[in-house]
Parts: sequence; structure tokens; C-alpha cells
Amino acid sequence: MPQQIKRLVIAFAIIIVLFLILQQVLRPASFGKTGHYRFLAIGENEMKEINYAGSQSCIKCHEEINSDKASGYHAKLKCEMCHGPSLKHVRFAEQFADSELPDSLLLSKPGERKDCLVCHQINAARIKIVFDTIDNSVIKQIDNLKHNPINKKTKEALNCIDCHYPHQP
Ligand code: HEC
Ligand code: HEC
Ligand code: HEC
Ligand code: HEC
Repeated sequence: MPQQIKRLVIAFAIIIVLFLILQQVLRPASFGKTGHYRFLAIGENEMKEINYAGSQSCIKCHEEINSDKASGYHAKLKCEMCHGPSLKHVRFAEQFADSELPDSLLLSKPGERKDCLVCHQINAARIKIVFDTIDNSVIKQIDNLKHNPINKKTKEALNCIDCHYPHQP
């Protein structure tokens, strides 16, 4: 056997042994107990705080908005996709039906142009056939610079929601 091959074999053997030792030392204790994953990860995830309530839970108090949405183009968007995690709001908002909601129960109301453009801005950099993650035939996209950009009187850009009702655009 040529000498350089011998050396390579030795080097590889050392690397493999080191790998096997390190693998034993670094592998988390519960790994492999019930499959190729860390068993304790399930419990750890169960203990995480829950923040989302689910769209069904909004119907009780916002029936009208829910039915507006259900009959419009945004039917498939979940309320919390725009308003953010709402579990606390769902649990406690009822007490404030006749007064103002405290800050801790207010939700985000993404009504600026940039908020709608997250999904609706045409992206020329996106190569259509290969990488188009947002299919233009599924979500209609507009060009932010051309689609109603400037209010001629105030010289300011109109917000999308000045013309489109977000719950039934
Ligand atoms: C138990 C009743 C109740 C439930 C359930 C509920 N809400 Fe509300 N919500 C209210 C009340 C009361 C207000 C304050 C009065 C109003 O604006 O209608 C409010 C206001 C809001 C506002 C405006 C708040 C602001 O910042 O101006 C948003 C947005 C909202 N709710 C979204 C949701 C979403 C999304 C859900 C479901 C995940 C939901 N709500 C579930 C009672 C409820
Ligand atoms: C596409 C994003 C989007 C979705 C999806 C959405 N909302 Fe909204 N919502 C908004 C925006 C933007 C506003 C602020 C409207 C404004 O200021 O005129 C708003 C306002 C509200 C308000 C305050 C009252 C009002 O009419 O202005 C409530 C309550 C509300 N939404 C509840 C809901 C509920 C319940 C759902 C699900 C059935 C939902 N929203 C789904 C974007 C959305
Ligand atoms: C999370 C992604 C998302 C966000 C954010 C969003 N939309 Fe949509 N929008 C959709 C989807 C999905 C549809 C349904 C597919 C379609 O018909 O384009 C839609 C449809 C529409 C349509 C109808 C297009 C048509 O087919 O004629 C309009 C108008 C619209 N959205 C306006 C808005 C406005 C205004 C906002 C901001 C308040 C907004 N959208 C925010 C995903 C989104
Ligand atoms: C001055 C009013 C006005 C403003 C502001 C406005 N739109 Fe529109 N939008 C319309 C009208 C009217 C139509 C339908 C006619 C058309 O296709 O141009 C429309 C159509 C659309 C469509 C469907 C396009 C298609 O190909 O069928 C989408 C998506 C849309 N708007 C999203 C938005 C978003 C996102 C914003 C904010 C960045 C916005 N619009 C701002 C009036 C407006």
C-alpha cells in the first residue's frame, strides 16, 4: 500500500473515532427514545404559553365582521393573520363591551399600505416559474408605485383601506 494511503486511512480512523465519542457525549439524553428525535421536546413544547385563539372564537362577539369576511375575497385568511395572537382578547374583552378596551387587550390593526403589500406587492425579483412562492393567480398582486399611490389633494399616498374594506376587499 502506498504510504500516503496509509496515512489517509489513519487520519480517517481518528476522525471517525472522534466523531463517535463526541456523538455519545453531545447527544441529548432523551434522543432516540421513541424515534429519531428528542423525546423531551414534546413536553417542552406543550408547556409553552398559548397565544392564539383561532378564528372560530371571534364569531361570538364579531359576527358581522366574520360574515363579511366569509363572503369576500379574504374568506380564507384567518383573523389572527392580520390582528395577531388574540387569546387574551378573547378571554377578557367581554367585560369591556360597554367601555374602552384596556391597552393590554387591544390588537394590532394593520391598515397601512405596507401591511397589505406583504401579500399583494408584485415582486419583480421573484422568478416566476422557478421560485414563485406567492402564486400571482392565487393572490392578485399590484404595483405599489402605480396602484393609487398619491392623493392629488393632500399629496399623500392613500391607504389601501381608504378604498378597500379589509374584511371584504
Ligand atoms: C368575548 C367577546 C369577544 C371576542 C370573543 C373577541 N372580541 Fe374582539 N372585541 C371585543 C370588544 C368588546 C371590543 C371593543 C369594542 C369593539 O371595538 O367592538 C373588541 C374589539 C376588537 C378589535 C378592535 C380593537 C382595537 O384595537 O381597536 C379587534 C381588531 C378585534 N376585537 C379582533 C378580534 C379577533 C381577531 C377575535 C378572535 C381571535 C376577537 N376580536 C374576539 C370583544 C370580543
Ligand atoms: C386582511 C387583514 C384582516 C383580516 C383577515 C381581518 N381583519 Fe379585522 N381589521 C383589519 C384592519 C386593517 C382593520 C382596521 C380598519 C380601519 O381602521 O378602518 C381591522 C379592524 C377590525 C376591527 C375593529 C372594528 C372595525 O371594523 O374597524 C375588528 C373588531 C376586527 N377587525 C375584527 C376582525 C375579525 C373578527 C376578523 C376575522 C373574522 C378579522 N378582523 C379579520 C384587517 C383584517
Ligand atoms: C396574508 C396575506 C394577505 C394580506 C396581509 C392581505 N391580503 Fe388581500 N388577499 C389575500 C388573498 C389570499 C386573497 C384571495 C385571493 C385573491 O382573490 O387575490 C386576497 C384578495 C384581495 C383582494 C381581491 C383581489 C381580486 O381578486 O380582485 C383585494 C382587493 C385585497 N385582497 C386587498 C387587500 C388589502 C387592502 C389588504 C390590507 C388591508 C390586504 N388585501 C391584505 C391575501 C392577503
Ligand atoms: C383610490 C382607491 C384605491 C386605493 C387607495 C387602493 N386601491 Fe386597490 N383597487 C381599487 C379599485 C377601484 C380596484 C379595481 C379596479 C382595478 O383593478 O384597478 C382595485 C383593485 C385591487 C386589487 C385587485 C387587482 C386585480 O388584478 O384584480 C388588489 C389586489 C388591490 N386593489 C390591492 C390594493 C392594495 C394592496 C392597496 C394599497 C397598497 C390598494 N389596493 C389601494 C382602488 C384602490
